Amino acid sequence: MYNFYSNKLRFGNARAAVRFGFVAVLLTIVVSSLLLFRAPTGTLRRLRTSLPFGKPSIAPSKYPPAYYEELLQQNPTSFRPHPIDHLIDDARRVQDSLLARQSRDVASAAARYREKRGRHPPPGFDKWVEYALSHNSVLVEHFFDRIYQDIAPFWARDPKETALRAATWHHVVRVRNGKAEGVGNVEGRVPWLALWTDLVKEAAKWLPDVDMPINYMDESRLLVPWDEINQYATEEHQKRRITSLEQTMTKSKGLKALDKEIGDKAAYDPEWIKSDSPRYWDLARVACPAGSPGRDVPAMTDFSGTPEIPADYKPSYAYQGYVKNFTASTDPCIQPHLRGMHGTFIEPITMSTTKELIPLFGGCKLPMNNEILIPGAMYITQDPFYSGGETHGPPWEEKEVGVVWRGVGSGGRNKAENWRRFQRHRLIEMLNGTTVTNIEKHNGQAQTFEMAPLAKYDYPRRREGTIGTWLSNHTDTGFNDLNCFPRDSNCTYLAPYFSEKPSVPMAQQYVQKFIPDADGNSFSARFRGLLLSTSLPLKATIYSEWHDDRLLPWLHFAPLDNSFQDLHAVLNYFTADERGDAAARYIAEMGKAWGERVLRREDMLLYTWRVLLEFARVCDEDRDRLGYIDDLKNTTG
Ligand SMILES: *[C@@H]1O[C@H](CO)[C@@H](O)[C@H](O)[C@H]1NC(C)=O
Ligand SMILES: *[C@@H]1O[C@H](CO)[C@@H](O)[C@H](O)[C@H]1NC(C)=O
Ligand SMILES: *[C@@H]1O[C@H](CO)[C@@H](O)[C@H](O)[C@H]1NC(C)=O
Ligand SMILES: *[C@@H]1O[C@H](CO)[C@@H](O)[C@H](O)[C@H]1NC(C)=O
Repeated sequence: MYNFYSNKLRFGNARAAVRFGFVAVLLTIVVSSLLLFRAPTGTLRRLRTSLPFGKPSIAPSKYPPAYYEELLQQNPTSFRPHPIDHLIDDARRVQDSLLARQSRDVASAAARYREKRGRHPPPGFDKWVEYALSHNSVLVEHFFDRIYQDIAPFWARDPKETALRAATWHHVVRVRNGKAEGVGNVEGRVPWLALWTDLVKEAAKWLPDVDMPINYMDESRLLVPWDEINQYATEEHQKRRITSLEQTMTKSKGLKALDKEIGDKAAYDPEWIKSDSPRYWDLARVACPAGSPGRDVPAMTDFSGTPEIPADYKPSYAYQGYVKNFTASTDPCIQPHLRGMHGTFIEPITMSTTKELIPLFGGCKLPMNNEILIPGAMYITQDPFYSGGETHGPPWEEKEVGVVWRGVGSGGRNKAENWRRFQRHRLIEMLNGTTVTNIEKHNGQAQTFEMAPLAKYDYPRRREGTIGTWLSNHTDTGFNDLNCFPRDSNCTYLAPYFSEKPSVPMAQQYVQKFIPDADGNSFSARFRGLLLSTSLPLKATIYSEWHDDRLLPWLHFAPLDNSFQDLHAVLNYFTADERGDAAARYIAEMGKAWGERVLRREDMLLYTWRVLLEFARVCDEDRDRLGYIDDLKNTTG
């Protein structure tokens, strides 16, 4: 088995020493700007005890060494440059520049806040920063950008109306006088309310009175027309002020008055649109920015055939065929073809959506939805179904070169007339060696995809027609439940193309190097578990989540296009040679180390806490004057 460190030990000549010195200097520069990561168990120890030049010239690294980069430097001519090499390099640079902007104390965090948000931080900000610092959180203001997009429209709405709607909602995490409780009937339902309440409890003593109204459906629900949201956003921007110290109120009056007024007022329910789910796209696209490619493209009505990828498919967010801007790749507004390639737009199982803006918190949403994001409840359970429990998989060198996936044929209601369009069906068929071999060798056709053109992804396996053989040898992928509709169809419409396979526990899946992650009825809820594993997640999604601003494609995970046109080529890059294997290992280990720094329960708490500080303020009639200013008082005397 390939092992970079044991190779490295063998060099004893002067040239190698010079080369090593150069690498060490390079590493020092990178490391000193990072000094953050915990090395994956084993790697660091091996490096430290095995260096040939006595004491290492670099401080014990907290950062997985860039063995992948070193491999390229050692063998500059052995590997043809690949676009993904550049993408990894780019991602590293972005990460470095983000980390250079960390806040180390309340004053610098508050200063960055004012600079970026145009307001004083909300009251209670100091306690939040202190908690973050004392829990070794990576404090980068950019990681919280999402909160400001989500909250912005409410600055243009009546604060009391928002507060009232939040307080009376069906399921609420309620904070009063420093205590949190879950309110609402959840009998016979998933335990999300209890999980979120437990999380909020950890910060409750530092929180103002606030209500967190929760979406209890899997599907996201608010689709406010973009023109309206855009107007709100403009208004919010105009209202930003850094108020003078005299004007600023540092404490809110709380919600006592509101509580008196509420009595037993019923929840405010806007008009919920529940029928005609196949035309969901027509509701969604109205929430796309004016002028965006998807905005004026009507919903499809016939979902029967193999989906068509636009001719000469060159998405704006890709670099030479590989996703570069992951955020953009998740946006259906710029990819109208997704209206015929994703279950959400084909036939959602349940639809209950509104065009009205109400305050509603949830674990995921489409980029055009108007919920306020918090970490998905599945990320705060200990349920091994989502996380794999305490096991995160063996070290890379002990893994099998393989792709593993199990899951339900979800994504929406798949039936004879539409199943060829669903993302999970496409993923599983593309990974089916029999199917791909049949295309390559016998001119066969798949049901859910066409092979990406050779002209675009040109590599030996594609040229020689051996992708199918490779897949047959290296994949263990399939549905453990075909989830057909109607049930008594006995899945006859899928039988020729798919068969059910027995489930594989997450812990056992982690034995394989590669684990794709595809949306189900909404987000998959497995991503955090996959990032924290020693395997490499390959990810495509149209759902936004709380962590998006802190994860980088090609550094923490491998991104895929929602069409999966890049799937075979990405797998080829990672498995064709040592360079690809080193890159895959590098991203898998970086993702794990990074996840252990920024996706901890403490980090999810801090995110939720920060949202609640902002939401409490935007619901407050004094919101334009409320702010944290102690840091300014101290410096001005
Ligand atoms: C990525 O795409 C998003 C959404 O389209 C855009 O706002 C952002 O500026 C892009 N990022 C970069 C680095 O180009
Ligand atoms: C697939 O496995 C067979 C038998 O183990 C082997 O002979 C063949 O070379 C493998 N093919 C590929 C493409 O890895
Ligand atoms: C499904 O299977 C049941 C039991 O074998 C049978 O009675 C029924 O006719 C089947 N339905 C279809 C649509 O094939
Ligand atoms: C793979 O495809 C073949 C047909 O090409 C099908 O019979 C088989 O059930 C598929 N395997 C899985 C796991 O779905």
